[in-house]
Amino acid sequence: MRNAPAARSVPLVLALLVLAACGTDGTDRSGGAGVVDVGVVGFSGDGSGPPDAAPPAVPPPAAVGAPPPVLDPASVAGLVLTRQDTRAPEDERHVTTVPLPGLDPLDRALRGIVDADVERYEAGLAAGQWNQLTVDSTPVLAVGDVLGIRVATSVRTGGLPPTTTARTVYADVGTGETWPSTELVADPAALFGWFSDAVRRAGLGHALLGRSAVLADLRFAPDGSLTVVVGGGDGRAEPFGDVAVRVDPLVVDGVLSAAGRWVRSAAMGAAPFRGVPAAPPAPPEPAPPPEPVPPAPSAPADEVDCAVLRCIALTFDDGPGPYTAELLDELRAEDVRATFFVVGRNAAAHPDLVRQLVADGHAVGNHTWSHPRLPDVGPAAVATELDRTAAVLADLGVTTSLMRPPYGATDATVASVMADRGYAQVLWDVDTRDWSNRDVAITTERALAGAHGGAIVLMHDIHPTTVQAVPGILDALHAAGYTLVTVPELLGPDLRAGAVYAHR
Ligand code: NI
Repeated sequence: MRNAPAARSVPLVLALLVLAACGTDGTDRSGGAGVVDVGVVGFSGDGSGPPDAAPPAVPPPAAVGAPPPVLDPASVAGLVLTRQDTRAPEDERHVTTVPLPGLDPLDRALRGIVDADVERYEAGLAAGQWNQLTVDSTPVLAVGDVLGIRVATSVRTGGLPPTTTARTVYADVGTGETWPSTELVADPAALFGWFSDAVRRAGLGHALLGRSAVLADLRFAPDGSLTVVVGGGDGRAEPFGDVAVRVDPLVVDGVLSAAGRWVRSAAMGAAPFRGVPAAPPAPPEPAPPPEPVPPAPSAPADEVDCAVLRCIALTFDDGPGPYTAELLDELRAEDVRATFFVVGRNAAAHPDLVRQLVADGHAVGNHTWSHPRLPDVGPAAVATELDRTAAVLADLGVTTSLMRPPYGATDATVASVMADRGYAQVLWDVDTRDWSNRDVAITTERALAGAHGGAIVLMHDIHPTTVQAVPGILDALHAAGYTLVTVPELLGPDLRAGAVYAHR
């Protein structure tokens, strides 16, 4: 992206150090990971006596390196930047923001950052001086369900040198859940300690920075490393310039929160970015009626015989969410039962929707707590992901022996955890890719083109376009002679724990 002149107002010595550390002279001296060898200065703890003859050969957990590259906004599906430039005498502003009307929590978080920065700038405006505000909003991660946006703000007031602060906020574009970088860390003291050691070894002034200044812009790379970035990545940060400290992948997991591990696991995967959700067509609908709905058993499986009838099972993943109530209305109007693979944290956030879909006779499956790629997280985390969701469902009176691994990603380890817990793994054989196309006509066309007796159709009730497509899909399937059933009705009662099913 931008290659700004490096550290134009940084004192010369510091500037040289920063250049040496960050590689901003355009040469990549390390090849792959972009880490510059700054040499490890041995130092003995108490400063007395000679250092030990043979320091242990353990590499430090973190070292000064290069900031990871940011993304070209044009490469991120659905992302639109808006730029406002105003040039009044003594008050020059360049503000680039990312409006995200379809992703409200992230939108609010980013607006909060920019508003606070503008306020800080306006409070420092000095008459007769050069005052300048620059806000850059830049995507730094867009993979699978995760979007990360960095806001870098440079404030120059009263003739003082500019100060640049950068903060990165991450969101799950499926659920809307949003985390500033600081919330991705469970052990900030350890991470800050590694950062301080790395900049001290490199002889950089950043060793004087406080914790709050250094954990606001965290980046994740496909190799599993975490990079702590200070400054806007363009050499404008004062007083010490930009610096990036890369934390070795082997130790990263230990300092992250559950959300941090989830973002990291997404960054390490190759899942195509889902795209930024479009703005909802209407204001958020009011909460469903509060009267409790007693859970009723699903229609008995012997009501339909899929050995005789042409059965097809529609499945809806990743909810419940803002559009689920509307989908339930549509299914009820057509007297159709479907199967919902719910994400545990969404079920916890929308208990009334879970009760309603059970009351309507739909089947419920476990789609993990936070939607990670299960083969990436290890058997203990797989178990936790399932058990947390099962506990929330149990509180709502729901037990299920169906699960769907996020992204359909499974392996022998995952299967053995499923087998231990009695879950069958339900995949699909008709993929509407509704999360990608976000288009009523395309979603409908793919559902119908793939339809066949015994099919399991994959859709997501977190997208308004999917919910809009359902009435037409139901009409067409009925007209073609299909009987719409739940997954338990389609596959029957004798599923093998751990086994994978994609159709009847
Ligand atoms: Ni999913």
